[in-house]
Amino acid sequence: MTTPLIAVLGSINMDLVTTTAARPAPGETVLGRGFTMVPGGKGANQAIAASRAGGQAMFLGAIGTDVFAPQLRAVLTESGVDTTGLRVIDGPSGIATIVVDDSGENSIIVVGGANTAVAGLTTADRTAIAAADILVCQLEIPLETVAAAARHARAHDTTVILNPSPVQHLSDELWEHVDVAVVNTGEAEHWGSLLGRVPHVVVTLGAHGARHRGPDGATTTATGPTVQVVDTTGAGDTFTGALAVRWAQGPAAALRFACTAGSLATTTLGASASVPWARDIESALPR
Ligand code: RIB
Repeated sequence: MTTPLIAVLGSINMDLVTTTAARPAPGETVLGRGFTMVPGGKGANQAIAASRAGGQAMFLGAIGTDVFAPQLRAVLTESGVDTTGLRVIDGPSGIATIVVDDSGENSIIVVGGANTAVAGLTTADRTAIAAADILVCQLEIPLETVAAAARHARAHDTTVILNPSPVQHLSDELWEHVDVAVVNTGEAEHWGSLLGRVPHVVVTLGAHGARHRGPDGATTTATGPTVQVVDTTGAGDTFTGALAVRWAQGPAAALRFACTAGSLATTTLGASASVPWARDIESALPR
């Protein structure tokens, strides 16, 4: 098995995580259980997941010049992610305010910071995307940059995996350049028939695993191991990064591996902190 080269273009945030028994209703104040800061961001989580799952991952995105920036860079390099394409933008890094309840479910607000300055592709981005086997994108950076990256990837036969999250309006042109869409059930409902334009659609189903629909309409499902859920933050990102690593082995094998990685990611608090390594995924694969 050759090691896939995976370019992940997207966001990197410092996650400010508060745990509480139940998330507050509008206008309600509740007491929290604890607070921690963990590097996250959909793009960074997916790059870390791809690297830890055995891929050769490169992160394309931006950190700021604030107190969080060194820690954000460090989590990438410590996970083996290539950061030569990481931009440094004068000002704050991305921030996510996250509330996690006792069931492990969360609410997240992202303030983009440096992520919003990832405008257009740099020469390094173009080189990385052209050389990669797979480009992975999400929607926490300017959408024109995502569209340009997908267009560039298509022109160089790089497979495009899009996780269209958080939901916002996308151009028709972007959809045309997507090979694989990875969505959760809420996103699948939102995007509806637009997903019909994408050859491969993978829907994550939480504790019930994931389902793949291929270009011929055939479906495959897989589940991960049963686990004790602590925090679902970043589980979908872990799934997506792991899926990219095994995509060349076919949807069935890739889904099984990604479901296991995603399940393991729910067992620990924090996004990047919960991303499993290849050896842990391999040993937890359902037999
Ligand atoms: O998908 C989880 C991620 O969404 C968090 O790490 C947070 O930073 C937001 O980007």
